[in-house]
Amino acid sequence: MAQQTPKNVPPMKPNPRRNQKNNNQNSGAWMIWIVLGIIFVMILSNPSTVSHTATAAKMGYSDFYRLLKNNRDTQEIKKLTLTEGVDRVLQGKLANGKDFRLSVPQDDKDLMSMIRENVSDFSVVPAETFWTQVFFNFVPVFLIIFFIWFIGRRGAEMGNKIWSFGKTRAKMSEKGSGKITFKDVAGVDEAKEELQEIIEFLKEPKKFERLGGKIPKGVLLVGPPGTGKTLLAKAVAGEADVPFFSLSGSDFVEMFVGVGASRVRDLFDQARKAGKVSGKGCIIFIDEIDAVGRQRFSGIGGGNDEREQTLNALLVEMDGFHSPSGLIVMAATNRPDTLDPALLRPGRFDRRIVVALPDIVGREGILIVHSRTIKLGDDVDLKRVAQQTVYFSGADLANVCNEAALLAARRAKETVGMAEFLAAVERVTMGPEKKSRTTSKKEKEMTAYHEAGHALLSFLLDEVDTFSKVSIIPRGMAGGYTLTPPTEDKHYYTKKELFGQMTLLLGGLVGEEVFMGDTTTGVSNDLEKVRSLARSMVCAFGMNDQLGKLAFGKGMHPSFLGRDLFDEKDYSDDTARQIDEEVKSLVNAAYERAKKLINEHRDKLDLIAGRLIEKEVMDIDEARTLLGIPALLKKGDPVVPPQV
Ligand SMILES: Nc1ncnc2c1ncn2[C@@H]1O[C@H](COP(=O)(O)OP(=O)(O)OP(=O)(O)O)[C@@H](O)[C@H]1O
Ligand SMILES: [Mg+2]
Repeated sequence: MAQQTPKNVPPMKPNPRRNQKNNNQNSGAWMIWIVLGIIFVMILSNPSTVSHTATAAKMGYSDFYRLLKNNRDTQEIKKLTLTEGVDRVLQGKLANGKDFRLSVPQDDKDLMSMIRENVSDFSVVPAETFWTQVFFNFVPVFLIIFFIWFIGRRGAEMGNKIWSFGKTRAKMSEKGSGKITFKDVAGVDEAKEELQEIIEFLKEPKKFERLGGKIPKGVLLVGPPGTGKTLLAKAVAGEADVPFFSLSGSDFVEMFVGVGASRVRDLFDQARKAGKVSGKGCIIFIDEIDAVGRQRFSGIGGGNDEREQTLNALLVEMDGFHSPSGLIVMAATNRPDTLDPALLRPGRFDRRIVVALPDIVGREGILIVHSRTIKLGDDVDLKRVAQQTVYFSGADLANVCNEAALLAARRAKETVGMAEFLAAVERVTMGPEKKSRTTSKKEKEMTAYHEAGHALLSFLLDEVDTFSKVSIIPRGMAGGYTLTPPTEDKHYYTKKELFGQMTLLLGGLVGEEVFMGDTTTGVSNDLEKVRSLARSMVCAFGMNDQLGKLAFGKGMHPSFLGRDLFDEKDYSDDTARQIDEEVKSLVNAAYERAKKLINEHRDKLDLIAGRLIEKEVMDIDEARTLLGIPALLKKGDPVVPPQV
């Protein structure tokens, strides 16, 4: 989750650090060019490289010495020129007209006198002109100065980085700079109202403080993933006429102890200043606050020092001696259960706004928002799509719209039709179809009977939703699937409904047994769900007569709060054994019931499976015609879970 700042809300100021970086890159490139140029000039102007003509043959020192010794008589060497310089080079002409050259030692005094005596035409050339002398004397000095300056600059820059470590990374956005407003958020009307009120508070604090009330300090947005918490905050940034700082909880966290705390202080400092400048207050938004706000460790040995310091700084800044007025902290999380209680008490995050999964009206609203940019076909009925997407979050629905548009493009259609929307819903629920996966005939039959078992029970059981589609084309992780979308939004389930759900889940296993007298590994997922349902019924919902109306174990959150790593066991071993037994007998009862129902309607099972083997997919209408449903429908028959 990395969406901390509204993408289309540019920061208020141009980022100076980035410019500085560009400058540095430029100066680095310049430096390299200058050094290369100097090296080039030095090579060119070096006398030993310049003055040596290519035609002159190299002569050994001893050969030269021998020639020189007798030159007065032989006159072998006609002419000699000595070039002074870093290395001394002698060039000469022999009697036969050939050129030669050789290097001679710097302090060979005998050689000089010998040359003087023996060679008639001898001249000395100074190696360096005035400019080359200047060059060689000053360039190294310049280079050293330049180098020191460069290193110094680098160091200063690093220093800056070090000192800006404790600075906040929050981005500030202005009203109107982002494109997202409350109009882009649908289905969370209560949350929107609350937030609008918060904006009012900041705009006109006097109005609310007139009768002695205090403006809230913190607002916590809580809800399952993808319900639009971050989006709401972006909308507030787009709507509020006050400075808005946003950052993510993880922006505080750093390797070094104390950095997070210092960033918190810096953040509040900046926000206070911005609030003063605007004269209206200011909003800070911390996304995914659980990254810093997790409960402090109370055990032996202390907890994570860095995070605790950061949290302490946050607690102090929100409600300390210098607690700011006219500053509201908004935060979002999907794990409110892990937050430190001190953070949640009145005076800090005193308002909690639950951003729940959208209901049918909300879903339609969200679909409308997200299909604004899509070319919709005439047959599209977003209300029907909303009906079929119970328990979908805003993010899921946005995904459905996008998938539908992509699918229509793949099918080379002019507009996005209802068929694409329905296919997209399925794709988002189950993952993409895997048509290429080859399956043996036997496996296909087995999958058909498994799915037929589920499908048949969804007809027979009164308390569960009837399937909408059954398929044996693999999708995502599943080899086949029976879709039984809830027909309406439900917040509670009865004991009977849960038991029906368990029976339905076991239909697949019974289907396999009926078909081949054996079962496969394909049932594992169903069995897992059945056990978890049974366990929740016994331990969390008090739905077992033997164990009574008691809830066992902590951390069994049936809602969105997420799974805990372990359930805290707050019951005796004896009870634990009893729980296991009750769970087992509940599952057994569901199994027996599924078996009985399927055996009674074996002919229907064969019919459904047969059609599936032939066509691979079947929807509810086809199934009704195939089975002559009215005759089969037993809705209304008393199906009471057996007492266990
Ligand atoms: N109520 C909504 N109205 C319109 N679009 C929504 C809504 N809820 C979610 N979306 C879509 O889903 C995307 C993800 O939502 P968002 O990032 O706000 O989720 P979240 O609640 O912050 O999730 P998390 O807890 O995982 O951070 C949004 O960018 C938007 O496209
Ligand atoms: Mg979010």
